[in-house]
Amino acid sequence: MKVVVAEDYEDLSRRAAVWLLIAMANTNNPTVILPTGNTPLGLYRNLAANPKRKLLETAKFIQLDEYQGIARNDSRTLGSWFRHVFMEPLSIDSTALCSFDPSCHDPDEEAARVDRFAMQSGIDICVLGLGQNGHLGFNEPGSDFKSRTRVVELSEESIKSNSAYWGAKIQVPRRAFTLGLGTLSASNQTLLLVSGAHKARILHATLEGPLSHEVPATCLRGFRDVTVLADRSALHYRMRLGDSAIP
Ligand code: GLP
Repeated sequence: MKVVVAEDYEDLSRRAAVWLLIAMANTNNPTVILPTGNTPLGLYRNLAANPKRKLLETAKFIQLDEYQGIARNDSRTLGSWFRHVFMEPLSIDSTALCSFDPSCHDPDEEAARVDRFAMQSGIDICVLGLGQNGHLGFNEPGSDFKSRTRVVELSEESIKSNSAYWGAKIQVPRRAFTLGLGTLSASNQTLLLVSGAHKARILHATLEGPLSHEVPATCLRGFRDVTVLADRSALHYRMRLGDSAIP
């Protein structure tokens, strides 16, 4: 696992865009997983401003996670968030996205359908954010490293952190779809984006704590070709130690 230090959030966002465009240029018609959340917003702004963004038009995208049990046209769907911050600014056709239907009648079959799509197309490139409880997508603490795409109950900590998106905890749906950790592990290249001092404790656990289901992101140590791109605030525990070994 390679750790790259960015100066700050802007630097992280620029570097993430360069990383993604290089990864895309090296893969024919790639299948790509991209996250929602606040961390990747700067990445998406940088991509929209980059003349090489046309590379993205050849890709297929798979939704990383989605709330379950709300209407398709509910403004809280992560699908509409993703279309608004990524697909529309980059003029990517909606047919390029394999998404979850949050209102489907058979959520288990819906999860299995998206998992089959991921396995059949293969995953070339995966960009992830890090939850403050160590989740990837909505793979909450306790998730098996071999888990497949499925419906999960959100943890109290995720409900609390997601309430920042929607104004109050009561607005956060209690269940969600997530690509599984085993599903994500099939990716050929993975980039984990981490920004801010509030992520320092969990990033430390991810990089240096014991491999544990209680910190799902520790599974990344078993993935192939992983880059962790974090800003100095998120890595400040190492900076305080005067760790000069970080590239
Ligand atoms: C959210 C999402 C993840 C996201 C993570 C970090 O709950 N389920 O897909 O990557 O938590 O979010 P943020 O970037 O807003 O900190």
